[in-house]
Amino acid sequence: MEKVKELYEGKAKKVYTTDDPELYIVSYKDDATAFDGQKKGTIADKGIVNNTMSNIIFALIEEAGVPTHFVKQLSDRETLVKAVTIFPLEVIIRNVAAGHFSSRYGVDEGTPLARPALEFSYKRDDLGDPLMNDDHVLALGLATEAELATVRKYAHKVNEVMGAFFLDKGLKLIDFKIEFGKLSDGTIILADEVSPDTCRLWDVETNEKMDKDRFRRDLGKVEETYQEVLNRVKK
Ligand code: TMP
Ligand code: ASP
Repeated sequence: MEKVKELYEGKAKKVYTTDDPELYIVSYKDDATAFDGQKKGTIADKGIVNNTMSNIIFALIEEAGVPTHFVKQLSDRETLVKAVTIFPLEVIIRNVAAGHFSSRYGVDEGTPLARPALEFSYKRDDLGDPLMNDDHVLALGLATEAELATVRKYAHKVNEVMGAFFLDKGLKLIDFKIEFGKLSDGTIILADEVSPDTCRLWDVETNEKMDKDRFRRDLGKVEETYQEVLNRVKK
């Protein structure tokens, strides 16, 4: 399958059309941004890590009964995926307080939550991706009630599957962000990526941060950490 035309360039990936309207090719870049693109940099070979890791995890999620866009890895950085229309929502699940949850609600990072908390952000860089509740999503017509119910159900399942998987690799799944899309027939599937860019992962033994917070917060050993996460995921 060949790339035909660049459809979209995001902060971390490019998306291309193919000669099949139902299929796209995504190409992962090494570019890294944080804080709504205010901080910019590159993480060497991040594209390779994120592409490979995402595909391993999407295969696992698919096996667990949540449909995904994953079709076939084409190369180090490129994957054939099902073409979807993305819901303009970041779906975040938090198991342990960190990041914006900690700053917003005044809870120390590392505080376990009584139950997993799902939140939505509106994917609007120009607005700083504002937090939304279900009513806001419905009022703006971003999804229907039935679609939201499916998204919530799938997101919690993804949390269960990934939580157990990462724990087996010596990593605690603190929180993560996923995105869903719709096929032309309306079927909802998991899209975008799952990687150290989109998850917070802490080493079970040391609580060391093994994710993009190393870049966001200038903690050093960024490339090494991405490689280490991939090595563990592959084991
Ligand atoms: P937050 O605490 O900054 O809201 O992040 C929650 C999770 O979502 C964390 O695992 C990082 C991920 N995330 C993204 O994937 N993209 C983003 O733009 C942001 C802000 C967070
Ligand atoms: N990817 C987001 C951005 O650029 C933020 C983040 O992951 O922290 O701005």
